[in-house]
Amino acid sequence: MAHQLVLVLDFGSQYTQLIARRIREQSVYCEIHPYTLGADLAKIRAMAPLGIILSGGPNSVYDEGAPHVPAGLWELGIPVLGICYGAQLTAHLLGGKVDRADAREYGRATVRVKTTDGVFRSVTPGDELAVWASHGDHVEAIPPGFVHTAESDNCKFSGFANSARKIHCVQFHPEVVHTARGAELLGNFLFGICGAKGDWSMASFVDEAVARIRAQVGSTDSGGRVICGLSGGVDSSVAAALIHKAIGDRLTCVFVDNGLLRNGEREQVAAIFRDHFHVDLRVIDAEARFLGALADITDPERKRKIIGYEFIAVFDEQAKTIQNAKFLAQGTLYPDVIESVSFKGPSHTIKSHHNVGGLPERMNLALVEPLRELFKDEVRQLGLELGLPRHMVWRQPFPGPGLAVRCLGPLTRTRLDVLRNADAIIEQEIVAAGLYESIWQSFGVLLPVRSVGVMGDARTYEEALAVRAVHSRDGMTADWVQLPYDVLARISSRIINEVRGINRVVYDITSKPPGTIEWE
Ligand code: XMP
Repeated sequence: MAHQLVLVLDFGSQYTQLIARRIREQSVYCEIHPYTLGADLAKIRAMAPLGIILSGGPNSVYDEGAPHVPAGLWELGIPVLGICYGAQLTAHLLGGKVDRADAREYGRATVRVKTTDGVFRSVTPGDELAVWASHGDHVEAIPPGFVHTAESDNCKFSGFANSARKIHCVQFHPEVVHTARGAELLGNFLFGICGAKGDWSMASFVDEAVARIRAQVGSTDSGGRVICGLSGGVDSSVAAALIHKAIGDRLTCVFVDNGLLRNGEREQVAAIFRDHFHVDLRVIDAEARFLGALADITDPERKRKIIGYEFIAVFDEQAKTIQNAKFLAQGTLYPDVIESVSFKGPSHTIKSHHNVGGLPERMNLALVEPLRELFKDEVRQLGLELGLPRHMVWRQPFPGPGLAVRCLGPLTRTRLDVLRNADAIIEQEIVAAGLYESIWQSFGVLLPVRSVGVMGDARTYEEALAVRAVHSRDGMTADWVQLPYDVLARISSRIINEVRGINRVVYDITSKPPGTIEWE
C-alpha cells in the first residue's frame, strides 16, 4: 500500500511548495523537508526516496551560514535534481565553480537545449525553451564528469548533468508556470530518471488515511471518541467525512449555528452529514446566545473577540457532554504544516486552529489531523472521492466570524437576514454565470449607510450593499474581479427588487493591498 516517495529538500526558495505541487499533480507523492535532513544520510536511506530535489534558495553558496548538505548526499545512488541554488550547491560541492554573475538573470529567459538526455529527454536539441529564472550567482565551471546540457544568453550553464550518477541540474525554475514546459521537464526527472510509477492517487490516499486514523485512535470503542467541529467549509467537512469512513459512529460532529451563517448553510450541513452519511451530528442552535452577546456592539475587533469567546464556550460545553472523548479532529493542511517548519530546521510550533484554540490542552484531547499531507486542491479531490457534493467541496472560503465581519454596524437578526438574502442572490448569479469556482471569494457587505432613492412612486431611505469579488491565491493579496456588466446588472436589479431594506448596490473596485478582502 505504501507509495513511492520523492524528497524535496528546502533551501528557502519561495517556490518550494510549487515544486511539491507540480510533482503531486503527476501522481507522484513527495514531501518537503528542511535542507537539514540532507545531513542525516541514514535517515534518508531509511526513507528510501526515489529521487531527491534540491530547491532554490536566497543564499549564495559562499555566504556565511549558507545552507549546505554533506557531499555524501550525491553518493547515495539516489537520483538528484538541483534547481537554482540546488544546482549551484551541487556544482560547488562536487568540484565545479560558482561565481557572482556579471549579468544577473531574473524573470523570463530563453534557454537553448544542447542534449537529448536527462530532464531534456523529450526536447529536441537546439530547441529554445521559455523559462523563469531567478539567480544572482551562476555556475562558472561544471564539476568533472558532468556534461553541459543547456545554456541561455545570460547564463552559460543553464543545465548540466552527470547521467551515469543520475545527477541533473537546472539554473531556472521548472516548477513555475512561466516555464512553459516545466511540468514536462519535472516529469522527465520523475518518470525517466527516478522510475516513478505515478502511484499517488486520492483513492489510494483514502485507504492509507483510513488505516492511519484507525491506528491512531484504536479500533475499538475503548479507544475513545473523536470530536470534530464542522464549519460547513471544505477542510472540516472533508476531515469529518474521512474520519467517519475510518471509525463510523465513534465520531461526533459539532456544528454551531451562531446566527452569522449564510442562507441554507445549517440545513446543507445537516442534510449531508446527518441524512446522507449518518454521522452523529449535533447542531447547536446558539443564535440567541451570540446575537445577545453582540447586541449594540459595532466595533469590529470587539465583535471578533466576542464571537471567538462564545464559540469556544459553546464547543467546550458540548465536548464535555460527549462521553469518552479523547480526540479532536482538525482540518490542518500541508501548507500550514510546512509554514510552521522553517527551512532552518524543524520547529514544532504547528498552528492551532483559531476556532478551537486552547481546547485540546484544556480537555486533554489528542489531535487527529488527517489532511496534514494535502494541498487544498487535493483536499477537494479527496472530498469528491469520499462522496461530498461538488458545491460543498468547491465552496469559497468563509471567515470564522461569519457574516459579522460583513454586516457593518449593529448585528440584528433583521439586518443579518437582509445581508443573507442579498448574499444568496450574489452567489446564485455568480454560479449561473459559471464564475463561482474561478473566483476566490464573492459576497455582499451590508453598510450602515442610508441614502434616498425612489421605488415606484415612493421615496425610500434604506441601506446600501457593496458587492465584493476578488481573485486571490491565498488571501494575502487580491485583485478585484472584472465581473461582466451584465452579471453586475442582474445582481443589482435582483437585490433591489427582491431584498427589502436595500435601495442602492455598489461594486467594490479595491485591490489588496491597499484594501483588505473583508470590509469590517
Ligand atoms: P482580509 O479581510 O484580511 O482577509 O483581506 C483575508 C482572508 O481571510 C479571511 N478572513 C478570515 N478567516 N477567520 C477566518 O477563518 C477570520 O477571522 C477571518 N478574517 C478574514 C477572509 O475571508 C479572506 O479570505
